[in-house]
Amino acid sequence: MASEAHTPLAAARVTPATAADLDDCAGLIVATPLWQRYTVTREGARRTLADAPDHGGRVLVARVDDELAGFVLVYPRGGFARSGYIRLLGVAAACQGQGVGDALMAAAESLVADVAPDMFLLVSDFNIDAQRFYQRLGYIQVGALPAYVLPDVTELILWKKLH
Ligand SMILES: CC(C)(COP(=O)(O)OP(=O)(O)OC[C@H]1O[C@@H](n2cnc3c(N)ncnc32)[C@H](O)[C@@H]1OP(=O)(O)O)[C@@H](O)C(=O)NCCC(=O)NCCS
Repeated sequence: MASEAHTPLAAARVTPATAADLDDCAGLIVATPLWQRYTVTREGARRTLADAPDHGGRVLVARVDDELAGFVLVYPRGGFARSGYIRLLGVAAACQGQGVGDALMAAAESLVADVAPDMFLLVSDFNIDAQRFYQRLGYIQVGALPAYVLPDVTELILWKKLH
């Protein structure tokens, strides 16, 4: 599908997360219906984000008017120890549909493009909106993992060549 260009409605500023941002990111995660289905707890989410740098992960946050609007957790060599891997991407419900997700993905892809040729990520089979979002950004499905995390959910493997 051809990608569509939008003028961002929100001026999202993407920066590396500080330690103080992680609890807000964890709050965003537990408020999101997707991760409620995966029974993620606030403490579990905070630990995942806080521990990420020990394993090569980077957390980036997007702010709109100085408020946290979204975040991405990316591992620049997290896919087969060769490719980039997006572990988590979330935008606060009130900020969705304004280009914040685009801005976070652009920042993560630019970070990965310096060290890896491509990016992988997983998306739940029921998460149709996110599948359309990633397809618009040029991701294609290259596989599927039945019951990988939840017994009744297939995780679709998406892939994009960055250069
Ligand atoms: C999926 C998700 C990250 C997308 O973030 P987002 O900030 O809403 O994404 P964007 O605003 O960049 O794009 C969303 C839609 O708004 C549209 N849009 C973006 N900017 C726009 C603008 N200025 N004017 C009109 N439409 C616009 C985009 O075309 C896009 O349409 P699409 O869904 O058909 O692709 C977000 O919805 C989310 O956090 N969902 C819950 C958690 C989740 O599913 N995470 C992904 C797990 S794999």
